[in-house]
Parts: sequence; structure tokens; C-alpha cells
Amino acid sequence: MKVTTICCIGAGYVGGPTMAVIAQKNPQIKVTVVDVNESRIEAWNHEDLDQLPIYEPGLDAVVAEARNRNLFFSTEVDAAIEAADMVFISVNTPTKTYGKGKGMAADLKYIELCARQIAKVSTSDKIIVEKSTLPVKTAQTIKSILHNTGNGINFQILSNPEFLAEGTAVQDLLMPDRVLIGGEQTKEGVEAIQALVDIYLSWVPNENIITTNLWSSELSKLTANAFLAQRVSSINALTELCEVTGADVNEVANAIGKDSRIGPKFLKASVGFGGSCFQKDILNLVYIAKSYGLKEVADYWEQVIIMNDYQKRRFSTKIVKTLYNTISGKKIAFLGWAFKKDTNDTRESAAIYVADQLIEEQATICVYDPKVTAQQMQNDLNYLNSRTEEDNQNQLITEDNPYNACKDAHAIAILTEWDEFKFYDWQKIYDIMQKPAFVFDGRGILNSETLKTIGFQYYAIGR
Ligand code: NAD
Ligand code: UGA
Repeated sequence: MKVTTICCIGAGYVGGPTMAVIAQKNPQIKVTVVDVNESRIEAWNHEDLDQLPIYEPGLDAVVAEARNRNLFFSTEVDAAIEAADMVFISVNTPTKTYGKGKGMAADLKYIELCARQIAKVSTSDKIIVEKSTLPVKTAQTIKSILHNTGNGINFQILSNPEFLAEGTAVQDLLMPDRVLIGGEQTKEGVEAIQALVDIYLSWVPNENIITTNLWSSELSKLTANAFLAQRVSSINALTELCEVTGADVNEVANAIGKDSRIGPKFLKASVGFGGSCFQKDILNLVYIAKSYGLKEVADYWEQVIIMNDYQKRRFSTKIVKTLYNTISGKKIAFLGWAFKKDTNDTRESAAIYVADQLIEEQATICVYDPKVTAQQMQNDLNYLNSRTEEDNQNQLITEDNPYNACKDAHAIAILTEWDEFKFYDWQKIYDIMQKPAFVFDGRGILNSETLKTIGFQYYAIGR
């Protein structure tokens, strides 16, 4: 089967960049990305590429090349589904906030809505591709909804999880370590898999495309995120031990990373991992294990989250303790709010939790982040429901100039590893701060020797 028209439901961090690259590399395929969020679609269609709803290095060029050639962004969901041979589902799958599985299971209501909508509006056979991260066995649910419409249309369901990381999305999409496609092991299933393989073959080498059964593909995505997050929690679990013994976590990471069986990546100690997926996907894995009665398996993976929460709390506690056990009325500057560099995404960012804990101690937090808006920061803090929105507004202020953010501060906390922080005039910052001037480097990115020579009291996680 040759695919000529694609619809992608969900124009978010995954749907937007993924479809932009598919369209760029397959100019013969018409790709329409649809979303119910009108302002998001408007932003994707904005003439000024700086106004795209997602900041990703290199994304503007890809969008500029394909948009309005064979890449379209639209709110006309039904029409795009009906016209498509292949429909990607790329909607959000957050942790459930209500009912059974609250706080753990993935909320599949958006997925189910998509399946119902596809069933309702389809008038021709289609391949449905799960792009969202889903619990293992979700394809069964989608299949059941689609096949019970009774209108005689054939649907093949594929799992094609996305492994891109934010901040490097375009690079990850252009040169993926692998593309994973799961499908039914029937004649029709194999044909559907091949149709999707052909799309990726436009730029991904054949040997990097893995095909599996549906359940292996669905479970591999959760497993990959669990392993990655586990590495961060593992190195973070050693930071406190390093601090009390005089070992340096960077040296330890470097030493163990040279072992080719361990490898050097994902060993950067930090104030804790954030992002929309690690926590949600592990909680989901834990929930699935529990629902099969696998208590030990569930407990094992849950520890990754417990360690991450501990790390964030440990960082804020360190700040309070070091500042003579009281930060009431003190200004603390935050450099960075995004959950990692090169993205404007703040979901589950460690900065939110550290700010919340410090505000609880009546500090005033003044944040500078090169890409995150002041409104987003307020929304993030309000979402925790710890105090009134008015109190949050008074306690969390923002600056669009880092030097202003640091002026008169008692301490600076580095929450995101933005490269520009390394190149600031740290002498100038020292001069405008309260003394003693403290820096709490939650990402270990600054040069400790330089800062100490200037006169800072410098603390880096794990050193
Ligand atoms: P997102 O929240 O940025 O985007 C999802 C979009 O889907 C939203 O714009 C929302 O309005 C839209 N949507 C929801 N229901 C809809 C419906 N019925 N019709 C039309 N539009 C609808 O989410 P995201 O970060 O792109 O993540 C999407 C999925 O991909 C999740 O399952 C996530 O776990 C997975 N994933 C995310 C990343 C990442 O880096 N963010 C990486 C890999 C996988
Ligand atoms: C992660 C995975 O890396 C992607 O493969 C996956 O597709 C994606 O989740 C997803 O499913 O959403 P992402 O969350 O965008 O991508 O970013 P990462 O680079 O994985 O970083 C996650 C968090 O871990 C960040 O807060 C980062 O600062 C932190 N981290 C990462 C560390 O603290 N130390 C490290 O060594 C690496």
C-alpha cells in the first residue's frame, strides 16, 4: 500500500516536529497536522517562524521548507482524518488525576476520543499509528473501538513510539538511533508495517528500522524511558554520598562511563529529572506491573521516582540550611526554569518544585530563563495549588535580564543547564549581590575555581 495522505492528530511537541520532518523528507505525501487547540494551530501557521508554538533548534528551517508545500496545520480534524490513508495519534497521555489509577495510570481519554472520532468520520480503509506513548495493550482498546463501528471499514493499527528528546528533537528525528514499528503479524498487518517503513526509508537506513509485534513496541517505549530515568536517578543517588565523602560525582561518572558496557551518556548528576514523560511513563509502568500483581517489579521502578523527588527536596533543603536556616524575606535568583536546556517546555521541571519549597520558607524567587514566559512560570506554580495565585505572584517574580535577576540576591540557584550561563560576567554578578554571595549549581555547569576565586560560596550538586 502506498500512503499519499497523512493526518496527525495532536500538534504538540511530538506531532509538530515529527510530521514536519516526515513532510520534509516525503514531498509526495500530503501531511496535515490537526489540533483542537486553535491558538496552537495559529502559531504553527504564523508567518514569523519565531512564533512557532515550540522552540526546537533547527525546527524553523524544516517547517519553512515544507509548510504549505505538503505540510499543513489545521483545526479541521474530521476532514483531515477522512482524507487520510494513515492517521497518527499524537495526543497527550498524562497521568490520571481522578478515579481508578489516579496519580499513576495514563489517562487515555484523549486516545479514546481520537479512536471514536476516527471511527465516526472514516469512509475508507486506514492505517492508524499510535505515536503517543501508551500502556502496553492499548492497541487492543483502539482496535475494539474502531472495529465496532459496523461500517465495514478496515483499520490496521500500528505502534510507532517516538524517542525524540526535547531540545534535540530535529536532530533526533533526522538521525534516529532506531525507528520502532510494531504491528499485527498477519498479512494485512505486515503490509501496514511496510507502508510505514517505506515512509521512514526516505531518510532512515533500513538497518535502523526495527519491526516487532504490537505489544513489544508499546512496552519498549515505556522501558526505554524507565531505563533512561533510572540512570539519572542512579547517578543522583550517588551525589549525596559524594558530598559527604569528598568524591566528585563528575569524576565518578567519567570513570564508570569509560566502561563500554556502561557508556558515558545520561550520567549527568542534576537537581532531578523533569519533563513531561519520565515520571508519567514510570508511574504508568508501575501501575501496569501492579495491575498484573507484580509487586516487586512495581516497587523496583517506583524507586526511580522516589529518588528523583528526594533529590529536588534535598537541593532546596541545602539552600535553606546554607543560608543560615532562614530564607524568609531573602531574594533567591533562579537561572533557568525549563526542564532542560534548548526548550521552552517546563513540564515537571525541577525548578517548579524547588521554587515551591523555597516560597514555603517565605523566600522571594526571581527567575530568568531565556525561553520561558513569566505567565508560564506562574501557571506552573499555581498548578501545584500550594497557595493563592496572588501569593505566588508576589513571591515569584521574573526578569528578562539575568543581571537584574541576580541584583541584591542572597543566592543564585542554577536550575537549567542553558549554555549562556557559563559565559556571564560572574565578577559583575558577584558585585551586585548581597554578601556572602552563594551559588547553588543544580546542574554542575559552572567553573567552580573561577567562582571561588571571585569570592562566591559555591556549591555544586555531588561535589
Ligand atoms: P502535547 O501536550 O504537547 O500535545 C498534544 C496535543 O494534542 C495538544 O496540542 C492537544 O490539544 C492535542 N489534542 C488532544 N486531544 C485531541 C483531540 N481529540 N483532537 C485533536 N487534538 C487533540 O503532548 P506531546 O508532548 O506532544 O506528547 C504527545 C505524546 O507523545 C504523549 O503520549 C507523550 O508521552 C509522547 N512523547 C512525548 C515526547 C516529548 O518529548 N514531549 C517524546 C516522545 C513521546
Ligand atoms: C526523554 C527521552 O530522552 C526521549 O528518548 C523520550 O522520547 C522522551 O523523554 C519522551 O518520551 O518524552 P526528554 O524528556 O525530552 O526526553 O529529555 P531528556 O534529555 O531525556 O531529559 C530528561 C530530564 O533528565 C531532563 O530534566 C534532564 O535535565 C535530565 N537529565 C538527563 C539529567 O538530569 N541527567 C542526564 O544525564 C540526562
